[in-house]
Amino acid sequence: MTPPVPPRKRLFVKTWGCQMNVYDSTRMADVLAPLGYAPAETPDGADMVILNTCHIREKASEKLFSELGRLRGAKQAKEADGGRMVLAVAGCVAQAEGAEITARAPYVDIVLGPQSYHRLPEMVARATRAAGHVIETEFPTEEKFDHLPDAAAPQGPIAFLTIQEGCDKFCSFCVVPYTRGAEYSRPAAAVLAEARRLVAQGAREIALLGQNVNAYHGDGPGGATWGLGRLLREMADIPGLARLRYTTSHPRDMDDDLIAAHAEIPALMPFLHLPVQSGSDKVLKAMNRGHTADEYRRIAEKLRHARPDLALSSDFIAGHPGETEADHQDTLRLIRDVGFAQAFSFKYSPRPGTPAAGAPLQLPEAEKDRRLQEIQALLRDQQEAFNRSRLGLRFDVLFTGAGRHPGQAAGRSPWLQPVHAEGSPELAGQVLPCEVIATHPNSLGVRILTAESTGDPPSQEKAAA
Ligand code: 5AD
Ligand code: SF4
Repeated sequence: MTPPVPPRKRLFVKTWGCQMNVYDSTRMADVLAPLGYAPAETPDGADMVILNTCHIREKASEKLFSELGRLRGAKQAKEADGGRMVLAVAGCVAQAEGAEITARAPYVDIVLGPQSYHRLPEMVARATRAAGHVIETEFPTEEKFDHLPDAAAPQGPIAFLTIQEGCDKFCSFCVVPYTRGAEYSRPAAAVLAEARRLVAQGAREIALLGQNVNAYHGDGPGGATWGLGRLLREMADIPGLARLRYTTSHPRDMDDDLIAAHAEIPALMPFLHLPVQSGSDKVLKAMNRGHTADEYRRIAEKLRHARPDLALSSDFIAGHPGETEADHQDTLRLIRDVGFAQAFSFKYSPRPGTPAAGAPLQLPEAEKDRRLQEIQALLRDQQEAFNRSRLGLRFDVLFTGAGRHPGQAAGRSPWLQPVHAEGSPELAGQVLPCEVIATHPNSLGVRILTAESTGDPPSQEKAAA
């Protein structure tokens, strides 16, 4: 007897925040697929809606509650039709404010923290049976990865793979150690198996993810502990995998073995996101970052020595409590000294429960705004100059699909710049040598030098810079 086919149910997932959250959203959809949930484009009429939240910057909970307000109507409409919409809040806001969510929005069925996604099917079953809420915000990280099914949906030529979660650094301004818990690294064998599966599904580039990814210390074979450098060397040997990246790193964990990996592994792309947050030693100390501005400069030098075409990206915070004009000038100086190909910058915003939120000497908004604008103007100039410096260069581009206009293919440069070329979307998955013929503030126009796939082994990926 064939088992009855579960009826197709519609699942809508809305994701805020970082790549980790995007990855988590795909994994939640994967664990629900066996229950008959298929992705929906809109929440209207959906059988389940998941809001995957991010707590890292301002107004996270306001955004959540206004979205919940809108969904309440959709849920009531579904119920008026005799149906049921299961409403779940996931991610870091769920972790931090679980009780407040169910108090302010009692129509929410499920609140679950980032470590509980593998239990979603059970929670959905409980929620569809029972009245009341199901809340799960404990921190059993080790279990989470073991119980998630093998990623089902192919991610395309560029795939993301979470290898590490959580953070023990406790930067003064940051909620991550409270919402994502202690550092945990997945065993190397599990990471390698998932990477091989992603490549078999068509990935040519894999970005390893973690809140503090270069603190990776996973179990290797025979009781050894592998650092990120070791893991990257093993990953580079996977046939068919052309490119590797990792994000986000902490300067303190940039050890010599990892820096050497940049010299040794051609597939490791010459672009690194390495947040520094400030260029002032006094502010770095107040932030509990554990390094000075000059130590960051030296790490940048060592990286460029190992891989001369390496470009850096970073994060900056303008107006941390106690930051003076001189400190701000130190940040601008560090930006000028190091030079960034791109960067993110934020106005300091107090996150409840973090040490900086309760610190004296909070800066006026207008002052934080002015400093942020100065930082952003400088970073914008640097990004445009970096893009212009690519004009006429030849390097390999990984094509990912259709461009914005008909007859255009889109892809990524080794420095993660969006690239477009005349060509078919069917080039997706190919790594092709290209020449830059136009540069823009946020992208590059290229000419494909040969229409044939290089089919290159990883070592053929090289830049002419
Ligand atoms: N205020 C401003 N920016 C912040 N970030 C994290 N917490 C805060 C905060 N309270 C920024 C940091 C971090 C990035 C992901 O978000 O720069 O690197
Ligand atoms: Fe937050 Fe600092 Fe950890 Fe990064 S290193 S996640 S900023 S606490």
